[in-house]
Amino acid sequence: MSNPLFRKKNIDKIITEASDGTHGVGLKRVLTVKDLTFFGIAAILGAGSFSSLGGAVFSGGPGVIVLFIITGIACAFTAFCYSDFASRIPVAGSAYTYAYASFGELFAWIIGWALIMEYSIGNIYVAYSWSDYFTSFMERMNVHIPAYLSTSYMEAKHAIAAGTKNEELISAWNSSPVFAGVRFIIDLPALVINIMITYLVYRGVKESKNFSNIMVILKLGVVLLILIVGGYLVMHNGLTSNWLPENPEGVKSFMPNGFKGVMAAVAGVFFAYIGFDAVSVLAEESKNPQRDLPRGMIYSLVICTVIYILLTLVLTGAVHYQKFENVGDPLAFIFEKQNLNVAWMQLLVAVCAVVAMTSVLLVFQMGQPRIWMSMSRDGLLPSVFQKIHPRFQTPSFSTIVTGLVVGVPILFTDKTFVLDFTSIATLFAFVLVCGGVLLLPRIAKEKGKFHLPFVSSKYIFPSLIILSIVLLSVFTENYFSGLLHFDVDATALTYNVSALLFWSICILLSIGAFIKNWSLIPLMGLTTCLYLLTGMTAMNWAWFGGWLLIGLIIYLLYGYKKSNLA
Ligand code: ALA
Repeated sequence: MSNPLFRKKNIDKIITEASDGTHGVGLKRVLTVKDLTFFGIAAILGAGSFSSLGGAVFSGGPGVIVLFIITGIACAFTAFCYSDFASRIPVAGSAYTYAYASFGELFAWIIGWALIMEYSIGNIYVAYSWSDYFTSFMERMNVHIPAYLSTSYMEAKHAIAAGTKNEELISAWNSSPVFAGVRFIIDLPALVINIMITYLVYRGVKESKNFSNIMVILKLGVVLLILIVGGYLVMHNGLTSNWLPENPEGVKSFMPNGFKGVMAAVAGVFFAYIGFDAVSVLAEESKNPQRDLPRGMIYSLVICTVIYILLTLVLTGAVHYQKFENVGDPLAFIFEKQNLNVAWMQLLVAVCAVVAMTSVLLVFQMGQPRIWMSMSRDGLLPSVFQKIHPRFQTPSFSTIVTGLVVGVPILFTDKTFVLDFTSIATLFAFVLVCGGVLLLPRIAKEKGKFHLPFVSSKYIFPSLIILSIVLLSVFTENYFSGLLHFDVDATALTYNVSALLFWSICILLSIGAFIKNWSLIPLMGLTTCLYLLTGMTAMNWAWFGGWLLIGLIIYLLYGYKKSNLA
């Protein structure tokens, strides 16, 4: 008998269960490729571009553009894998449901557990960013919120310890009242917006196509304006030399902190792409999923990648990259008095950012309870998680727990921590999804459904790996020998170990591809996502490992016994 840890849910059963309407079977097929693209942009464009871009630029300089391209490609491969899953299991589910049917319960649980990071912990980051722009907006309206009431305690503490020059953080620390020896520093706007969003979701707000489309137009409009006004001023004020800042050796460089500095920005850059996977849940509502679903995802990814590249150019042109340290509202920051000095842009960007990020918060805060409901229906979580409010018809308990999971850490964490945590967990989920699709049996093409085109990896993949190794050895001095230097600091050591592990896995995958003739697209998705994981620090891995361990213990103590399949 097979191991119960890998017991699988029957696809027919999932579809039958879904026909009670809660999963959306029987929905009208109305969405076109334009709607799907808009939905993708609605979920993708948010705190990543409005906020984490600042930190990414600070770490990698203008060269962070290269990372945006690599990440965009990794996400595009993953998008194909999501489309494949969505068409094989035709219910509007998430990666959790897909994994349950294909690889069994343990993997499904791990993905469900990792998705808490994408949805809830990711929302903590969005709430912090919302607060940065809200404070900036209020400032323009001459309402001053004290720095110690709009900063997270941990951010101020870490920044002070690191000797920051950021005036806001210094002011937050020095001006905060002290109670019993503890400084009172709290990000109040982040906390308040979370309470408001939880309340809205609890009362049952409805996502509507029109609302979401208006949001997207607003976001795209303001980004376009930033590109035009910012781009014009960069050229007009002769600031283009900022694109080649000096590196520590005094040499002008597109990547002043080297490729390692670029890779250190991976969490922020990847965060900016999270959300495209949400398009796959609209499989059954699209008119022609076979054609439109992957197109919708790819179009939104391409549009966002172009936007990110152009925004990076404007940002790093307008202001020297080193000035983005701890800047939470970079798109408004470049228009501040000491920079491009365009007051009305600063105000406009702040307003649009606040509105745009509210919609991202709503989407993710509504998504989390739905995943918990599915897990609870399968017996992996207590039944209270599927409790529906009698009047509002919303998953009331799950919604409140989501509010707490987002709200409580707002008091004890900081942006860097939650950003890293969200990105590592989501990347991990993507690795499982791509790896999963790789192992699924090939199925016959069916009319009207998306079918992942099969491209043989037998010769292409090993050739690509060999070519990469040769190119790196020839053009990057000491690349591989550098990885074998273990007498370095912890960050470099983690990078070396992850990179060595990555190349070893690549070699194993090449052998596997040659022998098993795997499908190239999921294999490339798996490889590129694994590559992005090499940018994570030892601390990220330690926290993520701890998180997985807690999840595993909960599963073994509860879900394993209570599962409907037990
Ligand atoms: N990509 C989404 C954002 O940037 C999560 O807000």
